[in-house]
Amino acid sequence: MSWRMKLVVAVAASAMIAGCAGKKGGKKKGKNDPVKSKAAFVAMGKVLTSARCINCHPSGDSPTQGDKMTAHQPPVFRGEGGMGAVGMRCNTCHGETNVALTERAGSMPGSRGWHLAPKSMGWQGKTLKQICEQLKDKSRNGGKTLEQLHEHNAKDPLVGWAWAPGKGRSPAPGTRAEFAKNTRDWIDNGAHCPDK
Ligand code: HEC
Ligand code: HEC
Repeated sequence: MSWRMKLVVAVAASAMIAGCAGKKGGKKKGKNDPVKSKAAFVAMGKVLTSARCINCHPSGDSPTQGDKMTAHQPPVFRGEGGMGAVGMRCNTCHGETNVALTERAGSMPGSRGWHLAPKSMGWQGKTLKQICEQLKDKSRNGGKTLEQLHEHNAKDPLVGWAWAPGKGRSPAPGTRAEFAKNTRDWIDNGAHCPDK
């Protein structure tokens, strides 16, 4: 091979290596598949819009309660940091665990850190598309990255409570593991939002 030829081969080879390396470096885990991603979010949506989640993610200033999502009795309000108004703090009544109420068929719901989701995370009356856009918006989701959202859905105690909500309430649909897996699939396929 002439030196010229050698140079051409060397340049071509290094371009190929650079090309591959570039692809590897830029490639995210999973593939960008809008169809799969949207389908995963629709599956997540069954949980997100279930009474167990949405009772505590109101768009107004008061939680709702029960499978029928009626007004919380007694009336309570968001207050500072979603902890309830002075004298009516959430933890005045809600403990760290569910408590069976003997005089009634139901139970008093409770979990560590029981308080109302911030107004920016209100999902009542929203479409799946709107909920999805809110979840991704760091100015409205508490500054969470997509990975932190997954972490929240997989491990946060208030989210987990929804699958062990106490007597008189139906648990959120499916299992928590499925919900975490759907969140993973939604993110890994590009975190696309449903069309409506
Ligand atoms: C005076 C006591 C009291 C206070 C204060 C209180 N709650 Fe409740 N809450 C209850 C009772 C009792 C229930 C259960 C009603 C039932 O299911 O029969 C309940 C139920 C709920 C539910 C419904 C759970 C479900 O999915 O069915 C949510 C959500 C909730 N409370 C949130 C809050 C939040 C947030 C605060 C603070 C802003 C708060 N509560 C303050 C007594 C209280
Ligand atoms: C007792 C009230 C309560 C219940 C029940 C609850 N949440 Fe929340 N949620 C909160 C609060 C408070 C925050 C904000 C604090 C935080 O980010 O840790 C929050 C934040 C979130 C976030 C963070 C990002 C965002 O933009 O919303 C997600 C995701 C979430 N909740 C999902 C759920 C899901 C899914 C369920 C049901 C399976 C659920 N929550 C049930 C109170 C609740």
